[in-house]
Amino acid sequence: MRLLVTGGAGYIGSVVGALLVAEGHDVTVLDDLSTGHADAVPAGAAFARGTLREDAPRLLAGGVDAVLHFAAKSLVGESVTDPAKYWSNNLGGTVTLLEAKCSTASMPSESTSAAQSRSVPLTNVAPGGTASANPVDRSSSTVTSCPAATSCPATTLPM
Ligand SMILES: NC(=O)c1ccc[n+]([C@@H]2O[C@H](COP(=O)([O-])OP(=O)(O)OC[C@H]3O[C@@H](n4cnc5c(N)ncnc54)[C@H](O)[C@@H]3O)[C@@H](O)[C@H]2O)c1
Repeated sequence: MRLLVTGGAGYIGSVVGALLVAEGHDVTVLDDLSTGHADAVPAGAAFARGTLREDAPRLLAGGVDAVLHFAAKSLVGESVTDPAKYWSNNLGGTVTLLEAKCSTASMPSESTSAAQSRSVPLTNVAPGGTASANPVDRSSSTVTSCPAATSCPATTLPM
């Protein structure tokens, strides 16, 4: 399959990308290197340095079977001091991606709320019903209920 891995120069996306290359998929990594590293891009994957908003539509127009989306800012402390950056990048960037290509997309789940959870399936609400308050989790969880995501029948989202 022709796969686009956003955030493929980052911690999780680079590992997923390497596994997909090993499985024989045609992988393109989109990453702006804002926190990732070029040398983490899996060998055998094509690399497009760019942003979700400016470059995802162009890459998707070239023909992609599925998107695995790991491009996000995920520093909880920074998200509290600069929440606008997180809402713009994580929610705005993801909506652009979804609108550009309503395809099969695996969305990143919540880091802190998932770690708090003891139940399966994982949700964006910690046991006891306490929703995460930090902008990393809130900007990501909002994606799952926005029209760009819910109107896309082939999109896989965290519960
Ligand atoms: N690391 C964990 O343990 C963990 C656990 C659960 C969920 N997650 C989620 O997985 C996702 C990835 O986490 P990570 O730990 O790999 O982070 P990371 O910072 O290592 O990787 C994110 C990558 O996305 C890129 N990026 C960010 N914004 C971008 C944009 N607008 N356009 C293009 N590239 C962009 C960065 O340069 C970086 O390479 C996040 O949503 C995070 O919340 C992480």
